[in-house]
Amino acid sequence: MYCVRKIQDDLYWVGGSDRRLNLFESVYPIPRGVSYNAYLLLDEKTVLLDTVDRAVAGQLFENLRHLLAGRSLDYVIVNHMEPDHAATLGDVLLRYPEARVVATAKAAAMIGQFFDAALEEKVIKVKEGDTLDTGAHKLTFAMAPMVHWPEVMMTFDTATGTLFSADAFGTFGAIEGSIFADECGFDMDEARRYYTNIVGKYGTQVMAALRKASKLDIKAICPLHGPVWRKDFAKFIEKYIRWATYEPEENGVLIAYTSVYGDTENAASILAARLAEAGVTKVRMYDASITHPSYIVAEAFRYSHLVIATTTYNAGIFVNMENLLHDIAAHNLQNRTVALIENGTWAATAAGKAKEILGGLKDIRFLDGTVSIKSSVKEQQNEQLSALAAAIADSMPKPAPADHSAKVENNAMFSLSYGLFILTAREGEKDNGCIINTVTQITDTPKRISIAVNKQNYTHDMIHNTGVFNVSVLSTRAPMEIFRHFGFQSGRNVDKFEGVDETRSDNGLRYVPWCANAYISGKVIQEIDMGTHTVFIADVTQAVSLNSDPSCTYAYYFANIKPKPQPKLEEKPKKGYVCKICGYVYEGDELPADFVCPLCKHGPEDFERIG
Ligand code: FEO
Repeated sequence: MYCVRKIQDDLYWVGGSDRRLNLFESVYPIPRGVSYNAYLLLDEKTVLLDTVDRAVAGQLFENLRHLLAGRSLDYVIVNHMEPDHAATLGDVLLRYPEARVVATAKAAAMIGQFFDAALEEKVIKVKEGDTLDTGAHKLTFAMAPMVHWPEVMMTFDTATGTLFSADAFGTFGAIEGSIFADECGFDMDEARRYYTNIVGKYGTQVMAALRKASKLDIKAICPLHGPVWRKDFAKFIEKYIRWATYEPEENGVLIAYTSVYGDTENAASILAARLAEAGVTKVRMYDASITHPSYIVAEAFRYSHLVIATTTYNAGIFVNMENLLHDIAAHNLQNRTVALIENGTWAATAAGKAKEILGGLKDIRFLDGTVSIKSSVKEQQNEQLSALAAAIADSMPKPAPADHSAKVENNAMFSLSYGLFILTAREGEKDNGCIINTVTQITDTPKRISIAVNKQNYTHDMIHNTGVFNVSVLSTRAPMEIFRHFGFQSGRNVDKFEGVDETRSDNGLRYVPWCANAYISGKVIQEIDMGTHTVFIADVTQAVSLNSDPSCTYAYYFANIKPKPQPKLEEKPKKGYVCKICGYVYEGDELPADFVCPLCKHGPEDFERIG
């Protein structure tokens, strides 16, 4: 019997889930199963977006027969040729021989490899920016090589803002009724394990795809595994940016150990205890002989520090640890601090081997003070473990110092430019934020800044009532979704921080660490009424540099982030004025002098005539 879910008016999920498979790709445990997503668009033309794994082929065919209800299948779009999605392509084409396949040239060659070479002739080969008109929908294709294979592309439906993202934004786990991420209690730990193990190696290519995606007006994301996203993309995109750039999500320690007779485990436990006493409480310990490497690889992407504690074995390194370290190296982990503990009853070699395997990775910093144990921990190693714990604690990024002058880092202040910022405030229990472009340092001693805020913004009233605010200085990593999320909707109507990780500065207000290179806290000392705006002059109470990414200038936003207008084919160009900030179009001969953009609240000076 068919089992489909409606995604939009004429778009359906027609995939299936496998809860019997033990190992996805014969490697990764999937205790909660996995879904193989395919989507059917019922427009004037009918379009199947990807097929499914053989395990759920029967379900796909039942679903297609039901929804097509006698109609022909016009197109099969193949975004990804890996057999967990394309294994049933041949059978689909046997059942629907009139269907044409739409895929990249690389995918076409793979179709010839996986199936009868004659099937390659059914392929309409597409490249970046090509479109397929299906009636009410226009599908645009964007190449996404190595996310996760070289032939991968994504498909964007310009009519509905739906991105068919291939493996990107997927996760392990079967569909359990709810098809939308906002309904099903999305498990970010499994999403991390999926991302890091499946595409973790290809951070550069993932970032290239994210940059492309950031220029699209995305309203929904339909991945090939896991639930569909229709809102709150910001938190998932933030995770993707961190994973793809190998930025730790959290300052904390992953301790991975192997222990044949318990003595190396004893050393790992002592270190963990000393870390806790030193104030490092985010510590996760895994026995690498017991825990599948995919879980530990995911934790290695999560935390800033790795401790490898292992035994000498066959004049090398214990086999399960060797496998784990090669797995971490194969996934290209970068930018981590690593400490080593080795054990060897007569000739310890494990730490050296671990260094060899991890040392080739980019920006890996080994801490001095490797602890070498002969058989079991003695008083001398006990002291060395305490010293290693202290060294790890010392290397953790420090919170801002208490003294006021030392809190203000010049680097953070230098990050200010004619740029773009997220302004955040808090009143009562409500947090809110908006985009502004008017942050200026006005004095150095004492450090003072001014901000100008439109009176229509909810954040304006919160600052007026509370006298405190934070400014997060956006960097060039900021995707369009961030601007849309904080800039094009009002905090009066939505909770912009719903489901977003808690990050607060000393004044208790939110700041937005992803896509920002610094944050600055201000305490208002003066308000100047400027008509449409209020200028708040504030003492800087905290200024923290987060990273060295370039600030996002206005010029950068326009050149690289803001989507370019894409006039729909056969649609008469509109006449009027377009807002240069957010793209809102005012239709009319004359823009009223007091007009305010209903989306981003900018005035006539930011509009230009069109048509
Ligand atoms: Fe889900 Fe790369 O296949």
